[in-house]
Amino acid sequence: MKSAHEIYEEAAKLWNPDRVKTIHELGGELVIGERSGSYFKDLSGHRFINMHSNGGVFNLGHRNPEVRAALQHGADLVDAGNHYFPSEYKNTLNEKLLAVSPESMRYVFTLNGGGEAIDAAIKFARFATKKRRIISLDIAFHGSTGLAMAAGNPTIANFFNMPPDPELNTHIPYNDLNALEIALQGNDVAAVLIETLPATAGFPMPIDGYHQAVEYLAHKYGALYIADEVQTGMQRSGSMWACEHFGATPDMIVCGKGLSGGYYPMSAVIMNERAAAWMQQDGFAYTSSFNGTELGCIVAAKVLDILARKTTLDNRDMLTDVFASGLRRLQARHADFLVEIRQCGVIMGLKTAHPLGGQALMQAMLHHGVWCMMADFDQSVLQFKPNLLMTKACAEDVLKRLDAALTEAASLVKTVAAVH
Ligand SMILES: Cc1ncc(COP(=O)(O)O)c(C=O)c1O
Repeated sequence: MKSAHEIYEEAAKLWNPDRVKTIHELGGELVIGERSGSYFKDLSGHRFINMHSNGGVFNLGHRNPEVRAALQHGADLVDAGNHYFPSEYKNTLNEKLLAVSPESMRYVFTLNGGGEAIDAAIKFARFATKKRRIISLDIAFHGSTGLAMAAGNPTIANFFNMPPDPELNTHIPYNDLNALEIALQGNDVAAVLIETLPATAGFPMPIDGYHQAVEYLAHKYGALYIADEVQTGMQRSGSMWACEHFGATPDMIVCGKGLSGGYYPMSAVIMNERAAAWMQQDGFAYTSSFNGTELGCIVAAKVLDILARKTTLDNRDMLTDVFASGLRRLQARHADFLVEIRQCGVIMGLKTAHPLGGQALMQAMLHHGVWCMMADFDQSVLQFKPNLLMTKACAEDVLKRLDAALTEAASLVKTVAAVH
C-alpha cells in the first residue's frame, strides 16, 4: 500500500497540482483511510472526528450500515435503470420526498449533483415564467455548473472567464429586502434563488421574517422562489427543510448531498405545479442519463426512512442542545477570539475576531483530531457540521478538543497567511 506522501506526490501530477500545494501549505498530507460513523482514520491510523461531513453528504455518518445494506441489496436487484421509463423505485422515492415537503409540492426531478439540480431549477423557472433574470445572493455558492456558478458569488465565474451576464443575473446582499424589491421591479425576473443559510459565507443568520418576505416579494413580481437546501436540507436545521424552519414555502426546493447517503450521488428538484409547467408540455425536453437512477432511488429512499425516525430526530435535537450549551460555555472562556456562534439545529458557524481566524481554527482542530473547514467566503468563520447520528460522547469530545484548539488558534492566527 502506498504512503500518504507517495499518494500526494502522484496526486500533484495526476490529480490537481494546486490543490496538493494548498493542502501542503495548510500543513498536512491527509489521506482518508478507514471510516465509520463520525470518524475516519488517516493512513497511519490516526483517528479524526468528522465535523465537516462534506456539507451534509455524511449527514448519516460514514458508511451508514443501513444505507450500505440498501445499496448492496439494490445492486442485486437493479442497475442505473433507464431514464426514459417510469419505475416503482423512482415513484417510491418521489412519494417519500413529497411526503416530507410542503403540501404545495407536486413533482420531483432527480439528478446527481447539487449544482446540476440548481441549473435544472433555473431552467424550469425560466420556462414557467417566460422570464430570464435570476436574482441571487452575492455571498452564495450554488455549485460549479454553468447557471449555478453564474448565480453564486461572481469570483469563481470570473476566475473561469465566464463573468455573469448583467442581463441575466443580479446579485444582491443577504438580508437586504430593499435591494431585492428594487431588483424585482423590472418585472423580468424568473426566479429568486436563495441559499437558505449561506454555507460558504459561514451560515450568517437571516433577519426576522427574511425568507417569508423573499417568498412574498418574488410572487408579487411574478417570479418563482427557489430554496437551495443542498446544505441546509435533510433535517439538519431542525426541520426537514430550513426554509420551513423559517416559515417560508418556496416554489422549488433543491436538495443534494445527504440524499446520497454518502454513497450514491443523488440530488433533487422538488417543485409545485407552476414550477413543473414544462412537464405538462414536453416531458422529454430535459433528459439526463442518470435522471432517476434506480439504484440511487433505492439508496435515497433508505436515507429518507432513516430521517423519518423519531430516534434520528431525537438525536439531532440532543446534539443541537449539547452544542448550544457547550459553545456558549466556550465562548465565555474564549470571548476575545470566539466572537459569535451561529446555530440552526446542527448547522453551525463559529465566527472569530480575526479575518483568518476560521483558517487558524481549522488547522488547530486538525492538530486536535477534528476535521472541519473554514468558510471560504469569510475565512474568519469555521463551519461546524456534525452528522445527525453523532453520539453525545463524541459531541462532548469535540467540544473538549475545540476548547484546546481555540487557545492554540488564538496564537496561531498571528502567523497564518490566506491560502486562497
Ligand atoms: C448550498 C450549495 N448549493 C449547491 C452546491 C453544489 O452541490 P454539488 O457540489 O453537489 O454540485 C453546494 C456544494 O457545496 C452547496 O453548498
